[in-house]
Amino acid sequence: MRLRNKVALITGGAVGIGAEIAKRFAGGRAQVVIGDVNVVEARTTSESIRRSGGSARSVPLDVTKEESWKEALDGIRTAEGRLDVLVNNAGITTDFHHRDAAGGLRTHHGGQCPGVFLGIKHALPS
Ligand SMILES: NC(=O)c1ccc[n+]([C@@H]2O[C@H](COP(=O)([O-])OP(=O)(O)OC[C@H]3O[C@@H](n4cnc5c(N)ncnc54)[C@H](O)[C@@H]3O)[C@@H](O)[C@H]2O)c1
Repeated sequence: MRLRNKVALITGGAVGIGAEIAKRFAGGRAQVVIGDVNVVEARTTSESIRRSGGSARSVPLDVTKEESWKEALDGIRTAEGRLDVLVNNAGITTDFHHRDAAGGLRTHHGGQCPGVFLGIKHALPS
């Protein structure tokens, strides 16, 4: 992966798939920023990456909230100087078996789609 010195924001990088992506990116010498609502686990994962010799820090980010994107990306552009890569990973797992269709659709789309849209909107250079 050509990630050396790239500034990469991994949303939902505190645990699960996002945390593994963050570790792989850091292994490729990217400057990783983990954005997550789970600030405690995000900090733990960043610390673990740094202990392994990688570059990582965490920022609070709720991908469903536009203000939260603005704050996180302003902070990254100030601290790191730019954003090169956005991994729009954060999302919720939908329980397809135990929801009524309308409620399930609302939760699924409310949890997944705004985050991806807002991420692209604010990460793209203006
Ligand atoms: N695991 C699977 O089999 C699978 C399959 C298809 C798609 N996905 C998708 O891949 C992504 C990661 O899956 P996972 O299994 O690692 O999930 P996970 O539940 O283990 O981790 C999701 C992470 O996203 C964070 N998150 C949730 N809502 C957030 C929000 N509003 N703002 C910021 N962070 C938020 C959580 O705190 C957590 O750290 C999700 O978008 C999921 O829908 C997963």
